[in-house]
Amino acid sequence: MKTYAIALIPGDGIGKEVVPAGRQVLEALARSRSDLHFEFEHFDWGADYYRRHAVMMPHDGLDRLRAKDAILFGSAGDPGLPDHITLWGLRLRICQGFDQYANVRPTRILPGIDAPLKRCSPEDLDWVIVRENSEGEYSGVGGRVHQGHPIEAAVDVSMMTRVGVQRILRFAFGLAQSRPRKQLTVVTKSNAQRHAMVMWDEIAHEVAEEFPDVRWDKELVDAMTARMVNKPDTLDTIVATNLHADILSDLAAALAGSLGIAPTANLDPQRRYPSMFEPIHGSAFDIMGKGLANPIGTFWSVVMMLEHLGENEAAQQVMRAIEAVTSDPSLHTGDLGGHATTAQVTDAVCRFILEPGRR
Ligand code: IPM
Ligand code: MG
Repeated sequence: MKTYAIALIPGDGIGKEVVPAGRQVLEALARSRSDLHFEFEHFDWGADYYRRHAVMMPHDGLDRLRAKDAILFGSAGDPGLPDHITLWGLRLRICQGFDQYANVRPTRILPGIDAPLKRCSPEDLDWVIVRENSEGEYSGVGGRVHQGHPIEAAVDVSMMTRVGVQRILRFAFGLAQSRPRKQLTVVTKSNAQRHAMVMWDEIAHEVAEEFPDVRWDKELVDAMTARMVNKPDTLDTIVATNLHADILSDLAAALAGSLGIAPTANLDPQRRYPSMFEPIHGSAFDIMGKGLANPIGTFWSVVMMLEHLGENEAAQQVMRAIEAVTSDPSLHTGDLGGHATTAQVTDAVCRFILEPGRR
């Protein structure tokens, strides 16, 4: 029997609904098998915590997470607080504090989901986007002077380091190599951004030599959006900078039918620190507190968590339950055009995990 210590950080908005749903799924999984056990610790960090303590998480927050095997995160964002406070105070603090430099975002059209690309079949869209998660446009380097004066100036520096670019490209080539098609597309904007992006291209050529069995090509980020729509079957694994991949992954999620389904892993591939798993949808204040959030993005994130923990069989068990549930339109939430509630979808996934033969 293996026991895993899991930190639960629901954060804000619908994170408070989908993370408890993710816990229910992990508990059902543990009940269904004799080899797995989870110990959960709940952290009430986020915007409400900020209103009480003037910080999104306590100063020793990272230390309290350090010994966990993984973190399941909901979302950070609140209509009453500036976005850069909620983001930098919690999610980025954990990502950067634990050097979770590889952000992995798989996209597939799950069974039963009506996706907008009418010219492609579901098998044509099976991608993993690897997002550089520690520097680039999100490095936080910059400043603002003379605020409010006519001479006001502001800079955000996109900082790229050789070590940072090399490690994310190595990770992406390795991931591409582990997938059946062994194919990687490196996305940059090296025609317009003539320093750091040109360095990316050069390092890509160097790293590619370490992976002779991976076929790879380059694409500029603007052309990439068109290729994702027009030729989805020409893509498999994709690697891009922090901001480029942020944008491309929303497009990918929409092309797969809904942002409500898309999962993310923030990985420290060296396993020095716990990695963090989260749905990409954000806080979604328009539907918070109503029980209408789609929990599938969180469940798929749980699958990625189990894979990272080396529990591949358990991961597949949860993925099969997710696919059985998405196949049934009566279990679709509002974002998918249905009327099901978070609780109904969660119960259905848990039932399938416990009794795969019956629904
Ligand atoms: C994401 C989100 C975040 C990001 C937001 C909430 C700041 O869009 O994880 O893709 O841009 O990193
Ligand atoms: Mg995003």
